[in-house]
Amino acid sequence: MKQFKRIAEIASYLKGKRDSGLTSGFVPTMGALHEGHLTLIRRSKRENDLTVCSIFVNPAQFNNAEDLIKYPRTLVRDLEMLEEEGCEVVFVPEIPEMYPEGENYPLDVEFGELDKVMEGKFRPGHFNGVAIVVKKLFGIVEPTRAYFGKKDFQQLAIIQHMVKTLNLPVEIVPCETVREPDGLAISSRNTRLTGVERSLAPLIHQVLLKVRENAGKQPVHELKDWAIKKIQEDPAFRVEYFDIGDKNSLMPIETWYGKDRAVAFIAVFLGDVRLIDNIELFS
Ligand code: PAJ
Repeated sequence: MKQFKRIAEIASYLKGKRDSGLTSGFVPTMGALHEGHLTLIRRSKRENDLTVCSIFVNPAQFNNAEDLIKYPRTLVRDLEMLEEEGCEVVFVPEIPEMYPEGENYPLDVEFGELDKVMEGKFRPGHFNGVAIVVKKLFGIVEPTRAYFGKKDFQQLAIIQHMVKTLNLPVEIVPCETVREPDGLAISSRNTRLTGVERSLAPLIHQVLLKVRENAGKQPVHELKDWAIKKIQEDPAFRVEYFDIGDKNSLMPIETWYGKDRAVAFIAVFLGDVRLIDNIELFS
């Protein structure tokens, strides 16, 4: 596996590959790799000549300084895992390489309502930071395809919007959420749960499955109220939001009209760990 820290070096290496007609799949990450990330890597390997992964804990997308400090960093293990998967190229830049302009993060995309709801509402500035770094990374790697998990459904919608608006020449490939056997969506944050919290955590997915079962059968607001109540029956949980929204616009839906595009989204604190999940209700 080839490892790069410098933009000029990886860019020229990958240009050489493109010039010889090779396709490339790109998996941007913030490291602390797990089975969710590796599934994206494997899919990229199946669909492209060359797979590029980036590991960069992006300061611009953390609206909370403590969260940035606490973010798990496991670079040695990450590189081993990528090597085992047969990832060909990894990009591990330092902050000044990605942000030579310092704390100033300009971006010229208007997301409309996409970054005002849910994660956008509770983590102001987060998606602007995500979009900035992903746009920079696309410019450096110039991949044929880029792989994103539906675990972060709103992030995926933001990236798709950005690619469309700016006509970026990359195909975005949405990938299914990878779960633990008990249904908990895999996330680097799961390791911060205590033993008891970890044993409670599958409730989130179980409630989402029940919501899917009952979708269309009772009014949207009743189903939302039921889900929030069900999760909060255990005082270890505090629901930050539970929304049912349109899969494209992400706008909350109030009736089941046009229901085939409905997705349920949740953010919940379990102890002091914030977990997010979602489920497509009619597909
Ligand atoms: P990170 O949280 O490391 O996630 C990298 C990619 O892995 C994202 O596309 C995310 O949706 C996907 N992923 C994480 N857990 C997953 C799971 N359980 N199943 C399927 N896919 C999963 O998302 C980011 O980093 C950053 O915001 C980034 C896009 C790299 C920009 O900094």
